[in-house]
Amino acid sequence: MSTQDKCGMHLDLERVTLKDGRSVTIRPVCRKDGELEKSLIEGLSPESRRDRFIGGSCKASEKLIELLTDNDHEQHEAFIAVDESGDKPRAVAVANYALDDDGRACECAVVVSDDWQHEGLGRIMLQQLIDVARARGIEIMYSIESADNIKVKKFAHAMGFVCKADPRDYTLLTYTLDLQPEEAPIGLIQQHQRPAMQSQ
Ligand SMILES: CC(C)(COP(=O)(O)OP(=O)(O)OC[C@H]1O[C@@H](n2cnc3c(N)ncnc32)[C@H](O)[C@@H]1OP(=O)(O)O)[C@@H](O)C(=O)NCCC(=O)NCCS
Repeated sequence: MSTQDKCGMHLDLERVTLKDGRSVTIRPVCRKDGELEKSLIEGLSPESRRDRFIGGSCKASEKLIELLTDNDHEQHEAFIAVDESGDKPRAVAVANYALDDDGRACECAVVVSDDWQHEGLGRIMLQQLIDVARARGIEIMYSIESADNIKVKKFAHAMGFVCKADPRDYTLLTYTLDLQPEEAPIGLIQQHQRPAMQSQ
């Protein structure tokens, strides 16, 4: 599905149904998504907020929202999942990457609203990001996480990321995914296919 969004951008929309039957619309983030992103961040549990913004005290400041909605499709890429079943749209997940200066690697982040976790949405969002980064020729996707973040450990492993300790800081782990392997192992390709969800 494709449409013109409220920012006047031409958007490719994807409607997906999750494991529990709820549906969301996934599309690229645009400037006018600030309020949606702010509500998502402010509605996170302290644990999810701590895991997303290492340390956890992060406020949804104007500066942060400006950064998160700066989707130029070159240095930054971002996708948002919107639940449109209520009175007004609600953002329930965001995935984004920022390209390193060398243009070869990008740092990614994903967050799913607590009441939407464990339904496969994180995986769909990250896969969307991986597909776009890979198509753009970016070589490596990585994320630096707190070693305490158990959820992300399993999640990143399931997505094919390799985990390494940070030799400078034992409280941190770096997860890395080779986006352009010479030969992608078949198991990994299958693992990266969308989970058993209906794309409408
Ligand atoms: C990490 C996060 C994005 C996962 O989102 P999600 O929508 O729950 O993930 P999915 O449902 O797609 O799960 C994907 C896989 O990750 C693993 N996983 C996810 N959450 C898990 C948990 N709490 N415990 C164990 N494994 C988990 C599982 O292997 C799962 O595969 P399965 O569903 O086949 O069992 C979500 O927990 C989150 O937003 N956490 C807070 C922010 C954060 O830590 N972001 C990552 C770093 S920026």
